[in-house]
Amino acid sequence: MRVIWILASLGLVAAEDGLNGWLRYARLPRGMLRHAKVPTHIIALNTSQASPVFTAGKELQKGIQGVLGQNPEVTYEGLHGRQGESSILVGTIEAYADAGGAADIPELEEDGFWLNTEGDSVEIVGQNERGALYGAFEYLSMIAQGNFSEVAYATNPSAPIRWINQWDNMDGTIERGYAGLSIFFENNVIVSNLTRVYEYARLLSSIRVNGIIVNNVNANPILLSLENMAGLGRIADAMRPWGVRIGVSLNFASPQTLGGLDTYDPFDKSVIAWWTDITDKLYEHVPDMVGYLVKANSEGQPGPLTYNRTLADGANLFAKALQPYGGIVMFRAFVYDHHLSHENWYNDRANGQMEFFKDLDGAFEDNVVIQIKYGPIDFQVREPPSPLFAHLPNTASAIELQVTQEYYGQQCHLVYIPPLWRTILDYDLRVDGQKSVVGTDILSGKTFNKKLSGYAAVVNVGLNTTWLGTHLAMSNLYAYGRLAWDPTNDDVRMLEDWTRLTFGFDETVLETITKMSMVSWPAYENYTGNLGIQTLTDITGPHYGPNPASHDGNGWGMWTRANEHSIGMDRTVWNGTGNAGYYPPEIAAMYEKVETTPDELLLWFHHVPYTQRLKNGNTVIQHFYDAHYAGAETAFGFPAQWAALEGKIDRQRFEETLFRLEYQAGHAIVWRDAINQFYFNKSSIPDARGRVGNYPWRVEAEDMELDGYRVTAVTPFEAASGLRIVQTVDNSTAASVRATLDFPAGVYDLAVAYYDLYEGQASYELFLNNRSLGTWVGDLEDRLGYTLTRGIDGHSATRITFRDVRIRKGDEVRIETQPHGRETAPLDYIAVLPKGVVE
Ligand code: GCU
Repeated sequence: MRVIWILASLGLVAAEDGLNGWLRYARLPRGMLRHAKVPTHIIALNTSQASPVFTAGKELQKGIQGVLGQNPEVTYEGLHGRQGESSILVGTIEAYADAGGAADIPELEEDGFWLNTEGDSVEIVGQNERGALYGAFEYLSMIAQGNFSEVAYATNPSAPIRWINQWDNMDGTIERGYAGLSIFFENNVIVSNLTRVYEYARLLSSIRVNGIIVNNVNANPILLSLENMAGLGRIADAMRPWGVRIGVSLNFASPQTLGGLDTYDPFDKSVIAWWTDITDKLYEHVPDMVGYLVKANSEGQPGPLTYNRTLADGANLFAKALQPYGGIVMFRAFVYDHHLSHENWYNDRANGQMEFFKDLDGAFEDNVVIQIKYGPIDFQVREPPSPLFAHLPNTASAIELQVTQEYYGQQCHLVYIPPLWRTILDYDLRVDGQKSVVGTDILSGKTFNKKLSGYAAVVNVGLNTTWLGTHLAMSNLYAYGRLAWDPTNDDVRMLEDWTRLTFGFDETVLETITKMSMVSWPAYENYTGNLGIQTLTDITGPHYGPNPASHDGNGWGMWTRANEHSIGMDRTVWNGTGNAGYYPPEIAAMYEKVETTPDELLLWFHHVPYTQRLKNGNTVIQHFYDAHYAGAETAFGFPAQWAALEGKIDRQRFEETLFRLEYQAGHAIVWRDAINQFYFNKSSIPDARGRVGNYPWRVEAEDMELDGYRVTAVTPFEAASGLRIVQTVDNSTAASVRATLDFPAGVYDLAVAYYDLYEGQASYELFLNNRSLGTWVGDLEDRLGYTLTRGIDGHSATRITFRDVRIRKGDEVRIETQPHGRETAPLDYIAVLPKGVVE
């Protein structure tokens, strides 16, 4: 008994680095093992080691070993007289029939499978090899969750395209990457060790992703060098056993920049020949290449418009080269003018994709798929669906989602994204007055009777062992695959499955992760940008911390049009940019009027006074204030909820996650205060509840006694509490600040707000009456993966909290600091927080 107890506790403390994601195959608790009933023999109906069915056999063996501690035998040669014996049989429907399989299997579509666990044997039959492997993963997911029930069902994908887009650069960096360097590239070539690529394909296969574009949409033509084509062949070989096919992003100007031609005009014969030759060569190395992804005439990328050719002409160039091989072109609808004049009230970036694509419907080759970001702008925390989904009856289309949390806290904030995706996938666009739900009707191909359609998600896995930089973000990748397979999958159920597979069976762990995750996106929206005003981050910089002013006055078109009286984009037909009119009539009519526009998109479609009443009776400005307080309060509660799981999760993942949640709690307050301060300043309308700008539990650094420090402002101004901070007078001399506390005696949490820049690691020590409470270093650049900045701003603003400090009136608090590099040990304030106060 005692031995078991010790082993169990060892299990809890063993380090887990996240590398296996949700495929850990952890041993079931003893109580569950009792119900385990699994055949001891696996028959995989394919002898070829590179085949997904062969892989399925191995994976079933590995899973059963891990989950049940049994050691099943695998054979690959067929039944060999084992008919009637209890076994797990996995294979394609063809191989199943050849082997004498008897079951009457319902109709399977490409990649679909049938799973039957009734009786003594398990049968996993795929429409193709990939489907069989998916079925094996489904069965493993069941037993890894202790589910040994008898089931018999077939399942088919909602859409054939279920892809990932990596934005990896050839030099090994990743655009919008927050989890280290690329697993694919370094120094302009493909890495030699592809172990992580193989492991990534395993994860992707388990969520039924069948294609991946391996390089950045902002594509470097060097990928098409002969050496790199051979490297792509190796990548494809590593991913093929998992049924994941690879494709590449192309740079439209490659014939000129790489090929040495004097043009890249898509109608030029030499250009056509060049691309045909490149395509032929690529298929020599990657015979099952899935196709191309093209970003053209967007954000400075070259494209056909340079030669007065249409985007369809550009897309068709690649489509024709791919046709002999059955490949497809994903052509991005993310085309807009990023030099739009903000002075023109009627200009609107959201109209870009409509203006560029709506008249091209039907002009594309059949193997072109228009890949449309879910909203009309760019992965904002709230957008309506892109109206383009309703306007391509004769052209294949796919949705582009972002697992990468570019605008949702860059994997340093917990944001479970599926509830956001659901606002788009469940949206009924009412095309021709008929039910046309984005997920189940349009992307499934039903509405417009399309064979090609589906999903692409931008994902930024990197070399970090957690893949995405943080353990909890993996639920987004997991859920993406499941939603692409079936967009009606329930957000909570996906999360619960993922949690059990990732963290085990403890009920408190399950409840806590579910609760935190499900409130995380609403909270993030609350403390960043509300009512459809967009994320309000620094849009010309890292897209991370607050900077609402950066939205306006430039050509990027992510305008808020905030002035001292009013705010919002007028996208109405009667008085604005006309964007509302691009939706099908019923939807257009709804968005045309303030009264019928849902509050959450009010400022997306309308320009209204700050005093405009919402449907809940609040004014716009008061809603801003309240929502920011509510959102930050939610995030503020995360660390304590997580801390309560101590001992129920292995130490490594417990601590790494706690660290990030603590960070998020502090940065949510940075967001809250900056946005509220900004709009208070702009509108001059005070918070009816008196919170904004009043911080009774803070001592501002600029009000302290300074030694070796000077008082400065910051840019943007709202990134400093009280609009001022202190910095050391130079970047080498130790300095300090001190203050006498004037709070009633009690136990408080002491939070220090400071700024953590890169290119420097200042050190800090906090004292209470000469007693050291702790030290820390400004080293977040090594510990978090967000886009680094050199500035003292909303990205670098952060806080550290010391809990349960007994304080009496008249106590002295002191911070001793040592600046380092660019880091002048910048301090904003100290908050002395009684229990329950979020300040
Ligand atoms: C966003 C993102 C860019 C990216 C672009 C795209 O604007 O910030 O890094 O290149 O989208 O999707 O092409």
